[in-house]
Amino acid sequence: MSDSPKLTRRPEWTALEDHRADSLQRPRLRELFAADPARAERYVVRVGDLRIDYSKHLVNDETLALLQELAAATDVFGLRDAMFRGEKINVTEDRAVLHTALRAPRDAVVEVDGENVVPQVHAVLDKMSDFAERVRSGAWTGHTGRRIRNVVNIGIGGSDLGPAMAYEALRTFTARELTFRFVSNVDGADLHEAVRDLDPAETLFIVASKTFTTIETITNATSARSWLLAGLGGEEKAVARHFVALSTNAGKVTGFGIDPDNMFEFWDWVGGRYSFDSAIGLSLMIAIGPDRFRELLDGFHTVDEHFQNAPAEANAPLILGLLGIWYGNFFGAESHAVLPYSHYLSKFTAYLQQLDMESNGKSVDRDGQAVGWETGPVVWGTPGTNGQHAYYQLIHQGTRLIPADLIGFARPAAELGDELKAQHDLLMANLFAQGQALAFGKTADEVRAEGIPEEQVPHRTFQGNHPTTTILARELTPSVLGQLIALYEHKVFVQGAVWNIDSFDQWGVELGKVLAKRVEPALTQGADVPGLDPSTTALVAAYRELKNA
Ligand code: F6P
Repeated sequence: MSDSPKLTRRPEWTALEDHRADSLQRPRLRELFAADPARAERYVVRVGDLRIDYSKHLVNDETLALLQELAAATDVFGLRDAMFRGEKINVTEDRAVLHTALRAPRDAVVEVDGENVVPQVHAVLDKMSDFAERVRSGAWTGHTGRRIRNVVNIGIGGSDLGPAMAYEALRTFTARELTFRFVSNVDGADLHEAVRDLDPAETLFIVASKTFTTIETITNATSARSWLLAGLGGEEKAVARHFVALSTNAGKVTGFGIDPDNMFEFWDWVGGRYSFDSAIGLSLMIAIGPDRFRELLDGFHTVDEHFQNAPAEANAPLILGLLGIWYGNFFGAESHAVLPYSHYLSKFTAYLQQLDMESNGKSVDRDGQAVGWETGPVVWGTPGTNGQHAYYQLIHQGTRLIPADLIGFARPAAELGDELKAQHDLLMANLFAQGQALAFGKTADEVRAEGIPEEQVPHRTFQGNHPTTTILARELTPSVLGQLIALYEHKVFVQGAVWNIDSFDQWGVELGKVLAKRVEPALTQGADVPGLDPSTTALVAAYRELKNA
């Protein structure tokens, strides 16, 4: 058990509490900028191709210094170094946490239990590249000799969200002649809709599951196999040409009937939500090609190096992590919005939900003691302009403090036609306008000066002072996507380190899984399930009645 003081009793924590109480309840962004306009340039950090502007935060130099002292006191960089060294910092599972090794260059050395894992990583990447090229070129054919035109990834959580998100993000880099679908939900409608217009002879299923025991994935994969066999005359050997697996569990893959040669391996030191740059990215690699996939990995690696080497005051993931702590722990902010001004990032926030909420949704510390402080926020959001016409009202004029990230690009996708490209400035004008409106609002006097009748003035006044980070890059490339994801991965890491929680386990999803298995026979066969609570028993009875009516 660690003998370090509880987080909230540390002097660095109480110093932040005092600072928060001192700073006029809530420092006003109007005043902060009036007093120090240069913060617009000073509170900017660059990493790789990303320009990260955190000037519109409720902080001044003193706040940032105090937050940095908290990071130093909680030894964030010590834990970071232990992670990169391959130490077993996932304490409850006794595992190393080495997604960073997945994007390490070929000549790097990263050891787990005395063994350099980088050669294995590159061996799998090479095997993936070879396979991806064969599918893309048509050299890999289906059972009947026809080329593969459809790729269906079956997985859930980290085995779905990453490739599905990145496929959308990088659509303009994808082989447009191929169709990609992502099936995750155990609701049969998901698989039905994914395959209903596909020809089995031209369809490749990628079964993605770290454990290869996840009920949703195995159930969908089994149904997909039946669909395939039904379409190909029931010949079992067709499976070998139409199914590949991405997993750490060779035994289960073979048991399912997938040829081990068609398995792309990864390792228990890769967490599910940190896995899409492992073999889990195979569908994406087929879509964008091995070279682009390697650019994506290089993007991740750029930010890994920055996180490892940049000094604390210029370390982007550290700064973003600490800002989140400032709002979550000292202002009572409960959520964090991620608002990309890019249609291609439509699944980005959903991806981050797992990354952040499965990592930091914890209420005991690394020693198993209840934490006495708030941990991970609710992460939410959708692409910006759509959100403006839906929920931004609440951010602007509601009663809650919702820090937000605004993400945008200077250039639209190269493949857009001229007229659609011209819309890009309007898109980005919205991003900048929202950042300004959220930060500076509109005072009652400004509203009156417009001649608005007095009774309407309160309704049309914007308090402002809503903090945002603006992340800009020239364009959304594979490398930039990798940089963005690594930025958030390490931000989540920083927060978990300060909160002294294990960001790399996910025991919270277990109970529901176990109970679902127990409840299922009650639904299918009306079996008595001992231990069901009265409410659930009544629900099950109502369900059966409706089902059988
Ligand atoms: O939701 C729990 C979880 O274990 C995630 O962490 C993981 O990404 C997902 O299920 C899928 O797991 P697997 O890849 O083992 O099928």
